[in-house]
Formats: sequence, structure tokens, C-alpha cells
Amino acid sequence: MSNKENFGSKFGIIAAAAGSAIGLGNIYRFPCEAGANGGGAFFIVYLAIVLFMGLPLMLSEFVIGRRSGKNPVGAFKALANGSKGWGVIGYLGVLAAFLILAFYSTVAGWTIDAVGKSIINYYHGLDKATIQNDFQNLLNETWQPILSEGIFIFLTAFVIVKGVTKGIEKYSKILMPILFGILIVLCIKSLTLPGAKDGLVFFLKPDFSKITGKVLINALGQAFFSLSLGMGALITYGSYIAKKDNLTSTAFAVCISDTLIAVLAGIVIFPAAFTFGIRPEAGNELAFVTLPMLFDQMVGGYFFCLIFFLLLTIAALTSSISLLEVPVLYLTEQLNMNRKKATTYTAITVFILCVISSESLHDGSPLRLFGASIFDTLDMVSSTFLLTIGGLLTVIFLGWKMKKSDFMDEYTNGGTISMRLRKPIYYIIKFLAPLAITVILISQFIK
Ligand code: PHE
Repeated sequence: MSNKENFGSKFGIIAAAAGSAIGLGNIYRFPCEAGANGGGAFFIVYLAIVLFMGLPLMLSEFVIGRRSGKNPVGAFKALANGSKGWGVIGYLGVLAAFLILAFYSTVAGWTIDAVGKSIINYYHGLDKATIQNDFQNLLNETWQPILSEGIFIFLTAFVIVKGVTKGIEKYSKILMPILFGILIVLCIKSLTLPGAKDGLVFFLKPDFSKITGKVLINALGQAFFSLSLGMGALITYGSYIAKKDNLTSTAFAVCISDTLIAVLAGIVIFPAAFTFGIRPEAGNELAFVTLPMLFDQMVGGYFFCLIFFLLLTIAALTSSISLLEVPVLYLTEQLNMNRKKATTYTAITVFILCVISSESLHDGSPLRLFGASIFDTLDMVSSTFLLTIGGLLTVIFLGWKMKKSDFMDEYTNGGTISMRLRKPIYYIIKFLAPLAITVILISQFIK
């Protein structure tokens, strides 16, 4: 579509793509995964994956999106040189968007609840057991989570209906740097706590003997989740990038800022968790119990706590917008539905799934699938399988199906910018990335 809106400025696209990448994945999910997968062992694998698989995949998605100017389903169909079946990668992405949004909105609901508690200074002076209890009670409640999830999904849909440039750009530009600033302050505080050394050693010191197939796949899933890859979100955003923008520097900027925020979150959370006696494998509690306790020990804790959870909600929102945009753009472009209708239908479906996801966390809830709560299953199926398989098929598509000259042309903005790295990048996309992702996927089945 030639009359499609473009992101207004270079900073606009970086801000929007970084807004998509930076979210609960960095501050909530990254520490959970690092904690459950051995800390330092996970961390080192994670960094390698971001560099050798995340970055090339991000470039691939930008190229596919901008070249075709379409939603993921339409993009794969348009660039497949007439061969059929590739649209299925786009459909997988649309499916992933629904599943991720469902559990993502559940976690965003807890974040909104934390905003509410911060406003009334609820956490002040509470001990660990009480905050833990309160969090468990929240999971067991019915209406409170549904209300905050509903608010979150409504806000997401609201921004989507308003359209891309006006909606997304405006919100992401100023707020992410503030979140970054607060994380730095939190790091400084965390590093002065008595458990700082133990926490840092756990998080950063690689123990290569702990690298197992499970660590590899979880790091891969987390990297794709955190960078918003493997389900078409960045293909969608790529379709809005102006032809003159430099894709490499954009992808670099997004990967670096996303990884930096995740690392900062780890440096904040692990020293604090070790100090307060919260196990690194504690999962959901890691962020939602540790952080309020940390704020309570700080000068100005009330304000930091409130601003932090508010910004986290907004960071989650700029991510969920990019998730919802995938099915909405599919419905409007492929099925000619109007934007408002498409948004309403998708938002309602997501809301229903989200209610099921949060209800599944009640003690003794029968809503279980594959031996875990529906919430955990949605998380696992979407990031461990859909995103990794989607990412694999995307690099295979770019390396083996799309014309090499199309890639080179798009990647160098029609030859107007010289890209010394274009050949190595192309070969990483064509050979290394698909091979590495396949090995990691297969390693699950070998004991
Ligand atoms: N990257 C987002 C986060 O870290 C989540 C996300 C995943 C967004 C996949 C879009 C696509 O919170």
C-alpha cells in the first residue's frame, strides 16, 4: 500500500521498535528465565543468541516488512516468487499474537494493580511474607485481575484504533529514556545491599557446565520474545519504515537498548532477591515481590515505586500495541475489514483468552494443559515453540526463497548506502542462523 503512513523520523521508528521490544519481557520475564535456568549460564547464552540470531532475524523482518509494505501474511505471500504456502509463517504469527497477548495482559494486569497499590503507599513497611501473601491473593481473586486486564486491553485497542504514527510514536519517545534512568538509580541502590555480591555472581558468572538443552531453548525463546521476533511484529513495523532509513543501525539500536534494559533489570533484581531471601527460581514473585521491597528501603521510595510501575505499564502497552497490530493489520489488509471493527473483534477475543489465563492461576484451578496452568502453557507454547519456529522459517525464507538481489537492494536502500557487512550478514541469515536455531530446537529431544 503506497499511501501507508510512515514513521515520522528516524528516531520515531527506533522508538517504536524499541517500544515494542522493551516491556514485561525485560523486567519480568528475563529475570524469571535467568533465575530458573542457572543465572550466569543462561546470561552468556542469551547474549550470544541476541548477537548471532536475534540481530540477523530482526534485520530479516525489517527487510521483509519494508520490501513488501504489507502485514506478515501478505508479506510472505508477496515475496515468495509465486510459490505457495509461505503465508503460513504469517498465520503462525497471527496465532502467536493472540496467545502472547493473553498471558501478557495477565501480567500487565498485575502491573496495573501494583500502580494502584503504589498510589496509596500500600507497600510501605510491609514484610516479605505479607507482600508474598498479597500477591498470591491477587492471583486467586476473580474480579480484580479481570478489571485490570480489561483496562490494559482497552488501552491497547484505543491506541491501535488511533493509527500507527500518531498513536505509537507519541507515547514511546519520551518515556523509555525515563524508565532507563530509574533503572540506573535502582541498580545503584541494589548494588549497595548486603546480598549484592551473591546476586551478581549468580546472575553474571557463567558456569558452562550448567548449559543444557533446556537452557539453550529457554534463552532462545526469551531472546525472540524480548526482541519481539518470530511472529511478524517487526515485519509489521518494517512495513511502516521509510525507504531512506538505515535498517542496520535501527536494528542495532533496538537490540542494544533492549538487552541493556534486561541486563539492568537483572542487576536490580538478583542482588535484591538474594538480600531479601527470595529464591532466584521464584518465578512471578521475583519482580512483583522483590521490587516493592526494594523501593521501601529507598529514600523517595514512594515516588520511585509509583513512577516505575507506571512506566512499566506504559512499556507493556507499547509492546502489546505491536502485538495487537499484527492481527489487526492482517484483518484490514487481507480481509478488508475496517480498522475499528478489526480492533474490536481481536481485543474481545484476547480479553476472553486473558480471563481464562488469569483464572487458571487460582489455587486448584482445573484450567490446566500439558501439566501446567493455562497461563504457563500459553507462555511456553508461544515463546518456546511459535516464536522459535516462526523465526527459523523467517530466516529460511529470506535466505532461500526471497531473491538475493531483493534482499541486497532493500538492505542497502537501493544501493544508496554502502554496507560493508552486507555479505557476512546475508550468510549469517542464510546458513548460521537457521542451523543454530535448528540445533537448539533438536537438542530438546536428545537426552
Ligand atoms: N518484546 C516484548 C517484551 O519484551 C513482548 C513482545 C513479544 C512484543 C513478541 C511483540 C512480539 O515485553
